[in-house]
Amino acid sequence: MYGYQRIDTPVFEDAGVYLRTTGDSTDVVRKEMYIFEDRGGEKLALRPEGTAGVCRAYLEHGMSNLVQPVRLFYIAPVFRYDRPQAGRYRQHHQFGVEALGDADPALDAEVIDLLHTFYRRLGLDDFRLQLNSIGDVMCRPAYLERLRAYYADKLDLLDRDCRERLENNPLRLLDCKNAGCQPIIDAAPVLVDHLCEPCRDHFATVRRCLERLGVSHDLNPRLVRGLDYYTRTVFEFQPLVEGSQSALGGGGRYDGLIELLGGKPTPGVGFGTGIERIILNLKRTEVAVPGGASPELFVAHMGDGTIEAALDILMRARGEGISALMATGGRSLKAQMRQADSSGARYVALIGERELESGEVTLRDLTTRSQESLPVADAISRLTAS
Ligand code: HAM
Repeated sequence: MYGYQRIDTPVFEDAGVYLRTTGDSTDVVRKEMYIFEDRGGEKLALRPEGTAGVCRAYLEHGMSNLVQPVRLFYIAPVFRYDRPQAGRYRQHHQFGVEALGDADPALDAEVIDLLHTFYRRLGLDDFRLQLNSIGDVMCRPAYLERLRAYYADKLDLLDRDCRERLENNPLRLLDCKNAGCQPIIDAAPVLVDHLCEPCRDHFATVRRCLERLGVSHDLNPRLVRGLDYYTRTVFEFQPLVEGSQSALGGGGRYDGLIELLGGKPTPGVGFGTGIERIILNLKRTEVAVPGGASPELFVAHMGDGTIEAALDILMRARGEGISALMATGGRSLKAQMRQADSSGARYVALIGERELESGEVTLRDLTTRSQESLPVADAISRLTAS
């Protein structure tokens, strides 16, 4: 619907891909990366997030020579040495998209709209979209000085983590969840008030496009993300649950990331959303979790020489594009019917000695519980027509 192409990058990469891009002082780099040495002494990391690996592939495969933007998506395992709890796992799976090579604010709105539409189509609407702009290399340094100055006389009021953040990564001060720090955060200067003109215009257009696309959002001037590569637009979809600190998905623009990997300046924007978190939220809001597709036909057989006939039906059905599976284990007919029920198949084709003799098959419709005997070819036609 949105014209994104699938990309699969390796589960592990040279650790530098993540160390250079994600940020030295972020939790992901400091506490959560699985890093190990391979037999040749190379330092490797299990993928702690999707974006840097996709950007590495974009560079390595010369995708800057393609028509820009390059729109990519992935569904991939991600590893973080997190404290395991509901919705927070050491291995989770992310659906993510990255649109590379174009700074147009309409692209920011496009990826946000894509994620919004994805959730809605799954039946999730119990969330709010939070949006912010964290500026770029032109306006952020001056703002950070302002923030440092604001915090300078409040050191005694800060917890240890925040004192460290003030030193290493002051923007993340705004992200502190400690109740004692909230009044200080509430009164702190915010970046959206100090954006340079190009960043202000960019953000205004993102918001205009979102409005046009019917994607409502809350401006959250204190939204900063847990990874350091972001510039300008950042966003998160937050479930509407009291006290939830676990975003359903999030992302933003990262116009400096590809340069950090050694490429020429190349803008990018994207999101990641945790599949396990989506499932948790579907269950919480009592929306059915989409299951795998069931087969249409289950082939049961009973008696000497019936296995060949059962295999013939299976082959003919599959040849006609009908998904089909067969009973296993030489079970009783009753046990085979239980297998059929649990497979979710709509029809059972039954081959017994009587059917072998007559050259017919008994076709049972598990929904209506009706059955009839008919030639195999007619049974297959019945299934292709249904
Ligand atoms: P992130 O916010 O770190 O962003 O992760 C994206 C999503 O992955 C989260 O919103 C959450 O749904 C899920 N997630 C993260 N950690 C866990 C965990 N330990 N257990 C279960 N689910 C988890 C990124 O990773 C960026 N690469 C997103 C992005 C793409 N930004 C631009 N492009």
